[in-house]
Amino acid sequence: MNISEQENETIKTRILSVVDDRTIDWMEKKSIEFSRLMAYYRCAMMEIETKFNVLNEEYSLEFDRNPINSIKTRLKNPRSIKEKIERRGLPVSLSSIEENLNDIAGVRVICSFVEDVYALSETLLKQDDITLIKKKDYIASPKKNGYRSLHMILAIPIFLAHEKRIMKVEVQLRTIAMDFWASLEHQLRYKKDGEFTTEMMEELYQCAELSAELDQRMDALREKLR
Ligand code: GTP
Ligand code: MG
Repeated sequence: MNISEQENETIKTRILSVVDDRTIDWMEKKSIEFSRLMAYYRCAMMEIETKFNVLNEEYSLEFDRNPINSIKTRLKNPRSIKEKIERRGLPVSLSSIEENLNDIAGVRVICSFVEDVYALSETLLKQDDITLIKKKDYIASPKKNGYRSLHMILAIPIFLAHEKRIMKVEVQLRTIAMDFWASLEHQLRYKKDGEFTTEMMEELYQCAELSAELDQRMDALREKLR
């Protein structure tokens, strides 16, 4: 949402007219603490992204090809954080966010082949600064709608000037075909007008099966080339 200069002034005046100085100090302090926490999450995402880039580099040296097609990172926005906290009836505080939400920091790794998804996740999990908190293999067991990906919640340390902090990051690994389906399904689902009918859900499911078949056939081709 874009707020114009004038609206900005109006909002500021309105807040200042009902809020006392102590409250403003408190709000300012909370806002700084929130920004700091988000910065820590960004650092943790950078650490994870670097680890994947290193693995990609090493694979390409060793096997002359890149297992990673692309990496996307995203930080959950404040509004989504607030909505999730409220939806789950959790206390609204920074420590509650940190404790209860696993997906503030998200790293999505798009791989070439299904085999790469497993190879990369296994190699990453062997690193001694990474702790696996939760893993969901939606490739071995796809969701009812056909969604496939490998999800992991990881804990990783970040080293700050005076402390070491353990942060949680949600990592999603999937193939290009899985990402193609998930991206389009997401777009369709979030189109404001209209719900999915049973036929549309079936159609989407069939598309997911088709893209899984594509992955299998590409894997088979690669196997033949080896
Ligand atoms: P939430 O983040 O609260 O949903 O937690 P959860 O533990 O239920 O999440 P899960 O690991 O099942 O999925 C988390 C993320 O995976 C979502 O935020 C999406 O990015 C992705 N995802 C899961 N299911 C689907 C799906 O059906 N379609 C698409 N496009 N993405 C999905
Ligand atoms: Mg989520």
